Amino acid sequence: MNIVDKRVIGIVGAGTMGGGIAHLAALSGFTVILWDLNETLLNKAIDRMNGMMNKSISKGKMTEAEKDETLARVTTTTELGQMERAGLVIEAIVEDLDVKKEMFSRLDDILQPDAIIATNTSSMSITAIAEATKRQDRVAGMHFFNPPQIMKLVEVVRGYKTSDDTVATLMSISRDLGKEPIEVKKDSPGFIVNRVMIPQFIEAIRLVEEGVASPEDVDKAVTLGLNYPMGPFTLQDFAGVDIGMHVMDYFYEEFKDDRFAAPLSLKRLIRAGRLGKKTGAGWYDYNS
Ligand code: NAI
Repeated sequence: MNIVDKRVIGIVGAGTMGGGIAHLAALSGFTVILWDLNETLLNKAIDRMNGMMNKSISKGKMTEAEKDETLARVTTTTELGQMERAGLVIEAIVEDLDVKKEMFSRLDDILQPDAIIATNTSSMSITAIAEATKRQDRVAGMHFFNPPQIMKLVEVVRGYKTSDDTVATLMSISRDLGKEPIEVKKDSPGFIVNRVMIPQFIEAIRLVEEGVASPEDVDKAVTLGLNYPMGPFTLQDFAGVDIGMHVMDYFYEEFKDDRFAAPLSLKRLIRAGRLGKKTGAGWYDYNS
């Protein structure tokens, strides 16, 4: 008998995204196995889930019993072998190809043959990551947005050898998670959202470099003129200025196109340690 259970989702990496996806899956009724390198990281992820649900309770949107049931569905572990019974593992560790490939190779050895391994990578090649496994038909991208409990979209991304069945399963699980999945039919850098967003960031920075407008006014123009909830500078600070630059560098490398060259003022900001809200300052200062 096959012990793979489609209702058991493994999440590898308990950071911003992994912790959020684990929470989302538990809220949606899945059994969750959450892995990270140490207990401190895992405890922090559980604390964040608790904090978010306490807010929901205080707003009357959740009961204590529902919170307890949600948390009871999450098992934390530092033993990757615990993933063995998961039907799907979603990887959300650091954005580094070699680190991800090593993780996929380990998971490939641990998981049942028909389990699917998905990566939450923001921009890397699904095909390159899948190469580390012997189940390339059962590897795909499953790209959530931050915070995953709230953002509706999931990009389900095909690697070169991803099977139709894998795509259909991930679309269906995404819907079970309450999301609106779209299929990205080809493994292309940045998929859809980041491919559209990154040139907008670059153009916004260039406008400021050219002295055409201040970051505040570019943000105001974009929010009021395009009806976006956040302008490009606010959004970069929110997501991490360094993450935006990594994606630009990756696009530049892949496409060999100056359109994606990271602007100098962005590099200066990062060298000064202003990485966005997480460091207290990015394009804007949050200390004052
Ligand atoms: P994060 O830094 O908050 O969490 C990454 C976690 O991976 C950490 O808890 C770390 O301990 C763990 N990890 C496990 N094995 C590791 C190893 N060998 N080396 C280093 N760390 C290891 O990162 P975040 O922001 O959650 O991103 C995770 C993935 O999700 C990345 O691929 C990122 O590109 C992607 N992503 C991030 C979004 C965001 O807004 N932060 C949005 C969508 C995708």
